[in-house]
Amino acid sequence: MDVASFFLLLGGCGLLYLIVQLIRFVKADGDLTLLWAESFGKKPECQLPGKVVWVTGASSGIGEELAYQLASLGALLVLSARRENELQRVKKKCLENSNLQENDILILPLDVCDLESHEGATKRVLQHFGRINILVNNSGRSQRSLFMDTDLDVYKALMELNFFGTISLTKYVLHHMIEKNQGKIVTVNSMAGFIGPCLASGYSASKHALQGFFNSVRTELVDYPGISIINVCPGPVQSQIVHNAFTENITKKPEYTDQSHKMSTSRCARLILVSLVNDLNETWIAEQPYQTFCYMFQYAPSWAMWLANKVAKRRIQNFKSGMDADSSYLPKQKTKTS
Ligand SMILES: NC(=O)c1ccc[n+]([C@@H]2O[C@H](COP(=O)([O-])OP(=O)(O)OC[C@H]3O[C@@H](n4cnc5c(N)ncnc54)[C@H](OP(=O)(O)O)[C@@H]3O)[C@@H](O)[C@H]2O)c1
Repeated sequence: MDVASFFLLLGGCGLLYLIVQLIRFVKADGDLTLLWAESFGKKPECQLPGKVVWVTGASSGIGEELAYQLASLGALLVLSARRENELQRVKKKCLENSNLQENDILILPLDVCDLESHEGATKRVLQHFGRINILVNNSGRSQRSLFMDTDLDVYKALMELNFFGTISLTKYVLHHMIEKNQGKIVTVNSMAGFIGPCLASGYSASKHALQGFFNSVRTELVDYPGISIINVCPGPVQSQIVHNAFTENITKKPEYTDQSHKMSTSRCARLILVSLVNDLNETWIAEQPYQTFCYMFQYAPSWAMWLANKVAKRRIQNFKSGMDADSSYLPKQKTKTS
């Protein structure tokens, strides 16, 4: 082969590689490190059997789906949320679809805002299982309202639940993990934890706070290499989140809006499990165009904010006309939430 043909072949290979990467990115529903870990990293099937996993917010949405996937992989579960009857329903379905026995799933009703109860709840889990390998801080509520229309009480409630509740429970569980020098704290954060979407200023602030908090705590745990702090940041996912969101005042419920354009709950839960078994410090779980937006926000924030302003106009219009903020310009997904 002469030199010219060699360079032509090399260029062709380079171009092909770029095209493959571009196609991967166009189809990406996670950041590229996460998708690499999904293909070549540790598998949840090998890492999770026998692990004690405490999931908060397990009575619906992402937490419920995590419970099903964890149970089918043979993890021992602690299921927490406020609605005990819903937790019983989730437990029953977990037992039906796994080899777990009655005692392998502990129902532990918990109001994450009741900080006084966190120490007792942690002791109860340790009494039952003797260890906590993984805490998934998943419980949370969102917001659908404009800042200027919203009472300050809503901002306080969002911080109480999403931020203070989460860090308080983490503190008790971390005590135990530090003693053992092992464990994973997984926090279901959000794209709103590093991007500022309209209609969710308080929610976004609470998730930004969590992001900063856990990034800081991770660095304080350098002497405990067996402990991982993992922030997973989903974009829009099918769940009850909009139905349960705060609005302008603490008592008003949002109107029902169609959620079928969002990522399926099962895909989101699977990518959360991949993130945790591979100890990925931060992952972005979202389909396009959200994934591109995450990369823009990270690497070209001024452009991203210019684009965010353009999109905000449309989202606020949709919100004011009673639709989901994003539903009008995104295709429906095939998998609906259960
Ligand atoms: N769905 C999305 O688009 C999306 C995107 C990014 C991030 N996230 C995050 O994902 C997490 C799960 O939300 P989801 O989408 O699955 O919404 P969801 O279906 O509304 O589930 C929220 C869960 O949190 C629990 N919860 C609410 N208040 C609580 C409290 N005071 N104490 C204990 N548990 C409480 C709820 O249970 P009870 O009502 O029974 O207490 C429920 O199990 C949240 O942290 C959310 O911010 C969701």
